[in-house]
Amino acid sequence: MCGIVGYLGPLEAAPVLLSELRCLEYRGYDSAGVAVIEDGQLVVMKSAGKLSNLETLLTKTKPAAKVGIGHTRWATHGVPNDQNAHPHMDNTGNIAVVHNGIIENHEDLRNELEAAGYHFNSDTDTEVVAHLVSQEYAKDKDILKSILRAVKRLDGIYALGIVCQAHPDKIYAVNHHYSLSVGLGKHENFLASDSMAVRQYTNQILKLEMSEVAEITADGVRLFDFEGTEVHRKAATMDGSPYVIDKAGFKHFLLKEIHEQPHVLRRTLGKYLSHSGRLTLDASHNGDVPSYGFRMTDTEIKGIDRVHIVACGTAYHAGMVGKYLIEELVGIPCDVEIASEIRGRKLLVNESTLTVAVSQSGETADTIAALQEAKKRGSFTAGITNRPDSHLGQITPNLIVSECGLEVSVAATKTYVAQLVCFYLLAIHLAEVRNAITPERARQLKVTLGTIPALQEQILAKEQDIREASLKYADAHDVVFIGRGLNYPTALEGALKLKELSYIHASGYAAGELKHGPIAVLDASVPVVCIVVPGAVYEKTLSNAQEARARAAKMIAVAVEGDEQVAKMFDTVLSIPAVDEFFSPLLTVLPLQLMSYSVADYLGKDVDQPRNLAKSVTVE
Ligand code: M6R
Repeated sequence: MCGIVGYLGPLEAAPVLLSELRCLEYRGYDSAGVAVIEDGQLVVMKSAGKLSNLETLLTKTKPAAKVGIGHTRWATHGVPNDQNAHPHMDNTGNIAVVHNGIIENHEDLRNELEAAGYHFNSDTDTEVVAHLVSQEYAKDKDILKSILRAVKRLDGIYALGIVCQAHPDKIYAVNHHYSLSVGLGKHENFLASDSMAVRQYTNQILKLEMSEVAEITADGVRLFDFEGTEVHRKAATMDGSPYVIDKAGFKHFLLKEIHEQPHVLRRTLGKYLSHSGRLTLDASHNGDVPSYGFRMTDTEIKGIDRVHIVACGTAYHAGMVGKYLIEELVGIPCDVEIASEIRGRKLLVNESTLTVAVSQSGETADTIAALQEAKKRGSFTAGITNRPDSHLGQITPNLIVSECGLEVSVAATKTYVAQLVCFYLLAIHLAEVRNAITPERARQLKVTLGTIPALQEQILAKEQDIREASLKYADAHDVVFIGRGLNYPTALEGALKLKELSYIHASGYAAGELKHGPIAVLDASVPVVCIVVPGAVYEKTLSNAQEARARAAKMIAVAVEGDEQVAKMFDTVLSIPAVDEFFSPLLTVLPLQLMSYSVADYLGKDVDQPRNLAKSVTVE
């Protein structure tokens, strides 16, 4: 949430800052801005709206500067307009600040600074930082010391980028709880909230740790803790090639990413499952060189008596499926909690709990905080993520990494299905180690997992049919999604996707809950989407669908091909190939993703960057 970038070196700073910001636009697109030092003069250029607005401004003004910082904003304090866009300057025009996070005591600081004669130009919490640094700078003209004194006064979690006109050969980065990476080039250095943004220029990355300040020049970086003591750390070499951001001929990234799912599953399965069927979650044993893996020993795994899953949004839905899988295969209790709900209360985990955090970005503040709290209480910890280089990757020794590549679209699709597959692998692994399933059952599960990508391809081949069927409901104002058991989370995910992409209100319910209240909203104007797959809860789900149908609701099913009962009862069927109910969440979500995409595209919505959202939610 909010992205920070910086550059110093021989190149024109503005185009470099823009190219870094392009990689970070997923973190927010309410406004964007840069502060550069041009002919010794600090110049701020910023614009509300998407990065393209700033790009137009910079194309016109063409600042000739070799140093600068930049920002892309997801509004927290103050509406998304030009005034509240970052960077924010102090009153002398000497200092400019960009910020990610929240300064919790900003009101007190603002009152104090206003009383001392400082004038505020925005409604943001960020601006207090510019004035505080300025106030400190007036004392001794030592910019590093001023920053260190100023950050001592800030409450909350934050990252900052700072430039000072009086020190045009330096930029400063401050990290308190967040990710900030310095990319080391030859006589040039880069700064970004996500190492991916500097990876296009260099693979030498120095990550700032908790409560550190970096003083960056074109020829080097010095790190300090908040006490001003210099910290020495070597840069790490990032593996792999830079991410390529490309729609590959698709109209939107979202559609491309939906279509990538079979490939993602094959890659993730291929990474952890050998041809002989051996499951090795410690990726470093598989011949590649990642520094991560799932490293709990067999004795430790045998010692746990409970699993606790924490996540937000789509990742939480994946966690809900994970609970079913773990309880079914491992036979131990598993809870799943919305990470933000753990705040302010007692987290009941201990030395015999395994707490699993699920996060595509690995940066979600609430999820990270929940895992850290679990760690404090002695729990084993693990992460499921698409970004091993993330904050999550740094705080747990047990990481299962999905092979999704970058997910550009703000709405999660391929990373959801990949998180599900990671849960299947984790559940099988825990069950095998604990002898909770027979070797034959384990073998069958792995074989069936291997058949899923081809079944997904069959669904994706029907994209056009799904689009036509979905558009019949594009004028709805309210849609209800229902499912039971393993597909209750699918109903929640289907509703979330429709909401975030098309802005149509949608709610997901456990099908059996409908009659306990939500059924009151049903009439002929409210379509009901029901996920109904043969298995333990098939008949009961159909009964719940009947109850909805009796209230004149338009009925849409996600069901297996050729299901005659379903064909008779539903107005529209989005079919999937026959599948064992246990694996069905890996398929049933696909028609719902396509449905949400088709409706949003038809309604002309901003599919890849829906309003008000950000991909990486780094505020609490
Ligand atoms: O990066 P994370 O997986 O931790 O993100 C969690 C949620 O913010 C994310 O899943 C969000 O709900 C997406 N907009 C879903 O499409």
